[in-house]
Amino acid sequence: MLSIDETIQLIRIGEPPVSTNPSVPAPTSVCSTALADAPWVFDTQEPGYGPGASMHDTLPAGSPQQGFLPQEYRQASKSELDGRIRNAKAALGEGLVILGHFYQRDEVIQYADFVGDSFQLANAARTRPKAKFIVFCGVHFMAETADMLSRSDQAVVLPNLAAGCSMADMADLDSVTDCWNELEEVFGSAPDASGRQPIVPVTYMNSSAALKGFCGQHGGIVCTSSNATEVLQWALAHGQRALFFPDQHLGRNTGKAIGIPLEQMPLWDPSKRLGGSDAQTLKDSRVILWHGFCSVHKRFTVGQIQAARLRFPDVRVIVHPECPMPVVDAADASGSTDYITKAIAAAPAGSTFAIGTEINLVQRLANQNPQHKIFCLDSVVCPCSTMYRIHPSYMAWVLEALTHGQVLNRITVSEEVAIPARIALERMLSLKPTLQGEDSVMSA
Ligand code: 13P
Ligand code: SF4
Repeated sequence: MLSIDETIQLIRIGEPPVSTNPSVPAPTSVCSTALADAPWVFDTQEPGYGPGASMHDTLPAGSPQQGFLPQEYRQASKSELDGRIRNAKAALGEGLVILGHFYQRDEVIQYADFVGDSFQLANAARTRPKAKFIVFCGVHFMAETADMLSRSDQAVVLPNLAAGCSMADMADLDSVTDCWNELEEVFGSAPDASGRQPIVPVTYMNSSAALKGFCGQHGGIVCTSSNATEVLQWALAHGQRALFFPDQHLGRNTGKAIGIPLEQMPLWDPSKRLGGSDAQTLKDSRVILWHGFCSVHKRFTVGQIQAARLRFPDVRVIVHPECPMPVVDAADASGSTDYITKAIAAAPAGSTFAIGTEINLVQRLANQNPQHKIFCLDSVVCPCSTMYRIHPSYMAWVLEALTHGQVLNRITVSEEVAIPARIALERMLSLKPTLQGEDSVMSA
């Protein structure tokens, strides 16, 4: 029952981890040996995403950087940290809620009061009225959303400020505004005869609060991977076309699933005039896709799916919709992290699953469901390096500070940004069926 952290440490010392399921080989390699280092090693280096999947993506200037983690938390043993975190939690009682995203390491998830996908965590933040402090074990854009949806007297704390998202950083307010202005030159800004705007902006939850605000100001909406279909349909009912950012893959997979031909989904490259398209292509488009991607989900390939099917003819392949379109097409189903979790829970005992999403979740699902064979499509251990920046040492540090009345690493979004961003978020939250927590599945 090894966690990913333990698996990485074993691989580091050359001791192959033992598989929880004898018919599924344990992973034997990691995408970066630096993953075995403590996350604070990277706090003092050049700004970057750290080891692993997103290490080659550029960290934008001005991104929040974690400062110096006090020595006592770096040196504390696992059991000492455990005692200190549990004591702080007990002292803070109902005044504290710890939220954990599915991709967090098990060593963090064990302390979470609520574990979920980004949509569920956005809802969880606003339904914990007694909590004065929301300690968000996830990444920066999620903590920003929690801040905007919670009361102003509730403080959202991100234990390590370096926990960003490389995909979210691929779209910034300036380049999206430039894109918008260029599109207005092509389409104008007047609605058509049926009242539809020329273009409706749709931002994936994995984006800055500023971009959510942009959507709120321009008649747009936010989506998550669990409601992208409903959101895109909403956008196309209100507009002649949608501008979808930052994840091209989620946008393309969702557009394709609702029947939009690929030639009507041009890619927008912000470094080129008209995004690298021509005016006619843009006029004929239904969904304009920003060029962003997730480095973790980009690793999954059709070849991995073919190999899994060869090895286990009865395997069910489920991937996250951030995977490239050929991978989603070759899978049996795709859906959010919550969808994947529920699909596994509902399957008859003895099922075999190959999963294309972040390895911490896949390993946890394998550990929690010994009645099934569950393995990651990618045999190389490669966690989301930014999610991996949250560690029990940072948790102990921020939690103990809270017991002394000191709020460290508070994430606050200015009201100037939050007011329009809430409009776009509330549009999403009011869409059915996602309010009941149902998921959309792209292929089956
Ligand atoms: P979910 O919306 O499925 O939680 O995914 C969030 C994320 O960051 C996926 O990479
Ligand atoms: Fe961002 Fe990808 Fe990590 Fe999700 S898995 S937080 S999209 S880098």
